[in-house]
Amino acid sequence: MRKILIAGNWKMYKTQAECKQFLQAFLPELEEVDEKRGVILCPTFTSLGAMSASLHGGRVRLGAQNIHWEDTGAYTGEVSGPMLTEANVSYAIVGHSERRQYFGETDKTVNWRLRAAQKHDITPILCVGESKEQRDAGDTEKVITQQIEQDLIGIDQKNLVIAYEPIWAIGTGDTCEAVEANRTIGLIRSLLDNSNVSIQYGGSVRPNNIDEIMAQPEIDGALVGGASLDPAGFARIVNFKTPANLSQ
Ligand code: PGA
Repeated sequence: MRKILIAGNWKMYKTQAECKQFLQAFLPELEEVDEKRGVILCPTFTSLGAMSASLHGGRVRLGAQNIHWEDTGAYTGEVSGPMLTEANVSYAIVGHSERRQYFGETDKTVNWRLRAAQKHDITPILCVGESKEQRDAGDTEKVITQQIEQDLIGIDQKNLVIAYEPIWAIGTGDTCEAVEANRTIGLIRSLLDNSNVSIQYGGSVRPNNIDEIMAQPEIDGALVGGASLDPAGFARIVNFKTPANLSQ
């Protein structure tokens, strides 16, 4: 069964104190949210411990923003699977375009990181997406296909989430048309062995466009950056309305 998953990617924002403030305002807003909707928060590594303590026993799952492929070693600045599982991390974002663009992440290292996550029973959220230049050149399908094929070599598709994040839509306010995102996510699904993998859309998801995005049949959730930093805004996103409950 495809699961609905709404994840907040906090990038390099929020101190531990700010995380705590966020939860105070956000958690009460979850009371009405359908139990079937998965809610994930991905703070920076330094806040994982405190967040884990605050979220203990609740419905919000904790996600990390990356994971290294080795369990231990001389890898300055990296964090490994055992360190994340100790902090009760259930998900890890892997291959985000900001990692690929600014930190030299390649399909090969993305593949290694996906394997490491699965080895430690952490569900990786694999991010794929095309740049504006690639899109303008008509290469979207080619780029996505290549990323999916290379990143998923040897990966168990039963413990996997994918986020389609067109790079030109991230942090720009320039959302991909919902119908267009739906089409590309359908393409991604057609490349998978397991059609039940949850596939999120990411890129300028906001309280005012989430309902339309989630109304698309191929889209199983959202990976939300900027709009997940505000508790009221993210609460509205998690409480998205489907055509069935729009009138409620
Ligand atoms: P955005 O970021 O919602 O701020 O566009 C999405 C992401 O980078 O995951």
